[in-house]
Amino acid sequence: MTNVLILGANGQLARNTTQWFLQKTDARLTLYLRHASRLRNPDPERVRIVEGDVLDLETLEAAMKGQDVVYANLAGPMKQQAERIIEAMHAAGPRRLIFISSMGIYGEVPGERYRSVLDPYRDSAAAIEASDLDYTILRPGWFTSDDEVAYQLTQKGEPFKGHDVSLDSVSDLIVKLALTPGLESRRSLGVSRG
Ligand SMILES: NC(=O)c1ccc[n+]([C@@H]2O[C@H](COP(=O)([O-])OP(=O)(O)OC[C@H]3O[C@@H](n4cnc5c(N)ncnc54)[C@H](OP(=O)(O)O)[C@@H]3O)[C@@H](O)[C@H]2O)c1
Repeated sequence: MTNVLILGANGQLARNTTQWFLQKTDARLTLYLRHASRLRNPDPERVRIVEGDVLDLETLEAAMKGQDVVYANLAGPMKQQAERIIEAMHAAGPRRLIFISSMGIYGEVPGERYRSVLDPYRDSAAAIEASDLDYTILRPGWFTSDDEVAYQLTQKGEPFKGHDVSLDSVSDLIVKLALTPGLESRRSLGVSRG
C-alpha cells in the first residue's frame, strides 16, 4: 500500500486529487495544510491530517517519515518551499516527488511571453531539477471543471499544446505517477487537453 503525503492539501487541485486517490486506489494519505480545521477528514481509516506550514522544516520532516510519495500542490514563495521540501526529503527518506508548477515557465507556450508572475514557478522547478530526487514536475494549463479525463503530455523542450485541462485529468495523472514507480521520472511535463 502506497503512502502519499499531500502538501497544500486544501488547494483546489489537491482536494480534487484526494478524492481521486480515495476512489481509485487503496493509497493511504497524509493531508498537510495550514489551518487544518478547514478540512473534514474524508476517510479516517485511510487519511491522516497534519497541520503545518511547508516552510516549517521540523513539522515537514516529521510528516515525511514513512511516506513513499510526496505530492506538492503549493502557491506563494515556491522557491523557498521547494528548497524546504528537498531538504526534508533528504532528511526523512522519501525520494519520489510530484510537484505542481504551471505552463509557461520555460517560455514554451507559443505566442505567450514569459511573465514575472511565473518567477517562483520557474525558480522552484530549477531547484528541483538540480536535486537528485526522483521528481516529476507538472506544468498544467488552465484548470476547468469539465467532467472528463482527456489530456496530452509535452516534454521539456517541446512547445506546449493547447491552453486548458480539466482538474480530473491532472488528478488522474498525479495518481498514475504516484502509483507507478519510475513513470516519467526526472521529467517536467506540460499537461493540456491539446
Ligand atoms: N488555476 C489554474 O488554472 C492553474 C493552472 C496551472 C497551474 N496552477 C497552479 O497549480 C498549483 C495548484 O493549484 P490550486 O488551484 O490547487 O492552487 P490553490 O487552490 O491556490 O492551492 C495552493 C495551496 O497552497 C497552500 N500553501 C501555500 N503556501 C503554503 C505553505 N507555506 N505551507 C502549506 N501550504 C501552503 C495554500 O494553503 P492555504 O489554503 O493555507 O493558503 C493553498 O491551499 C498552484 O501553484 C497554481 O498556481 C493553477
